[in-house]
Amino acid sequence: VKLVSVSEKGSRKPGQVFEIIKKRRVTREFTTDPVSDVDIRTILEAARWAPSGGGRRLNVYVVVRDPVNLRKLRAVSPGILGYPAAVIVICIDQAKAATFAFDDSDYGSAFVDIGTAAENMLLAAAELELGACPVMSFHKDALRTVLRLPDTLVPNMMIILGYPAPKEEAIGQPRLRLPTVDETTYWEAYDGE
Ligand SMILES: Cc1cc2nc3c(=O)[nH]c(=O)nc-3n(C[C@H](O)[C@H](O)[C@H](O)COP(=O)(O)O)c2cc1C
Repeated sequence: VKLVSVSEKGSRKPGQVFEIIKKRRVTREFTTDPVSDVDIRTILEAARWAPSGGGRRLNVYVVVRDPVNLRKLRAVSPGILGYPAAVIVICIDQAKAATFAFDDSDYGSAFVDIGTAAENMLLAAAELELGACPVMSFHKDALRTVLRLPDTLVPNMMIILGYPAPKEEAIGQPRLRLPTVDETTYWEAYDGE
């Protein structure tokens, strides 16, 4: 299927956001090469610009690169299958949330904020030629202990990072087929044309 241009005016150039969106797929196996401070900061800067419900910006990040700390973190995270060179843990700051008169208990916007930040981070990593994978399978309380988090910081997702290992057998579940736009989209109303 030939994709239609994302831009009405057809002005899309290679290297723009749509190319990166399609380039990003999860990486679970990494080389032992380190991820630089500059790259980590670029990824965090991408997260900083993500949309946030009510503009509250409740995310707090913990960067882990020390091999001893990475080992402890892996030990409490069954969702980390390979050996990442860096992990960024995204937490929700409940103390900051309490300072806003904004009740999001019905629609969980703080959780959605994790996702908007995560996708910005994954796209930034893809642009930097880093491999990355979101991970949500970890033992929260054990992770709290490893990271010495106060009760008010709730770890919610990790972004594991590193340079992709040369392709051998991919670890993790086989990639499922992406549904097409037409399979998942209705126009105007569900029972519309
Ligand atoms: C909310 C969320 C949680 C995930 N948790 C894990 C995880 O714990 N471990 C893992 O290896 N991958 C995890 N993934 C990665 C997905 O398995 C992956 O995105 C999916 O298989 C599709 O592959 P793709 O991103 O390359 O299109 C998670 C992804 C999301 C969005």
